[in-house]
Amino acid sequence: MPLLCIETTCDETAAAIVSRNRLVLSSVVASQDALHARWRGVVPELASRAHVERIIPVIDEAMTRSGIGRQQLEAVAVAVRPGLVGSLLVGLSAAKGIAATLGIPVVGYDHIAAHLYACRLAYPLADLYPAVGLVASGGHTSLFRVRGPLDLERLGGTIDDAVGEAFDKAASLLGLGYPGGPQIERAATGGNPKAHRLPRPLASDQARIDLSFSGLKTALRYLVRPPGAAADTPPPTGQRLADLAASFQQAAVDAILAKVGLALERTGCRSLLVGGGVTANTLLRESLERLGRNRGLSVFVPPRELCTDNAAMGAIAWERLERGEQDDLELDVTPGTDRSGGRRAGREA
Ligand code: KG4
Ligand code: ZN
Repeated sequence: MPLLCIETTCDETAAAIVSRNRLVLSSVVASQDALHARWRGVVPELASRAHVERIIPVIDEAMTRSGIGRQQLEAVAVAVRPGLVGSLLVGLSAAKGIAATLGIPVVGYDHIAAHLYACRLAYPLADLYPAVGLVASGGHTSLFRVRGPLDLERLGGTIDDAVGEAFDKAASLLGLGYPGGPQIERAATGGNPKAHRLPRPLASDQARIDLSFSGLKTALRYLVRPPGAAADTPPPTGQRLADLAASFQQAAVDAILAKVGLALERTGCRSLLVGGGVTANTLLRESLERLGRNRGLSVFVPPRELCTDNAAMGAIAWERLERGEQDDLELDVTPGTDRSGGRRAGREA
């Protein structure tokens, strides 16, 4: 009997049906990108209101596409941390309502661990663990020692902004749309990644597995609009835009690669799991795969639709159910467990 998984941690309303043997029978994601584009970041209040409107249609759609009836569900899984509190509560309320009505268990799961569990869905037969896990998204940039699906030890991560947030703010500085990651990637095509010298903060610091992106963002800001330049300086265009986007993208990827390498050395792990929206970036994906080939390691990079927020990765709840764990209607959300506050609108570059 399959599992209904619900995901509303940030600005995607998502539901999926996943069978006990981890087959994704359906996966529906309703993006709120258009809603938040005007603010160039997620506005928490708008996000939770949009989740309220969409959650039931999205669940209905996932049920219909799977061909499964509600009475056939084994349990309802829901992401309960970390995320925006108002957004999380919408998913949790829906999950509890459905579980109570059907008389089946509700099972909470961790969104970050679920991002890495996407590797299990993408590589069902692979020997994944022990591994280093990289989660790079709009709200999080962290490295973990991963002993098993539910056993993550944080090794380090960003001390300020998440890398996805940096992509979003960089896109805004360059006059590009939201979300910024895909826009920067597109704008960087044909650009020279060596055209501008941008910092790779902490990259050469071998003592810590930490990252920092706020200095990179500020450096880009001064290139786009040097001190003293008029506030209405138009954003760059043509080759200059391509060079700036390519230089920014290369610096962000280099910074991540340096710490992934360090985490692999420190732990001695021969396997790397990756997840989160920024791992949809082609330069990052190819660089990680190259690192794996050069060091003779197994690098697991899920397809893009499993990297960005989705509910299929809620399949991780099966791991809890199989241990005999479940939650009850007292289950609550835990908004923040990461250093970064997430990619909210209004945070200054
Ligand atoms: O995992 P995700 O969908 O949501 C969060 O949990 O935050 O990640 C969204 C983030 C956004 O900041 C977006 O700009 C970034 O992932 N992103 C990318 C790309 N696609 C999405 N960043 C760089 N390159 C991409 N192709
Ligand atoms: Zn995410």
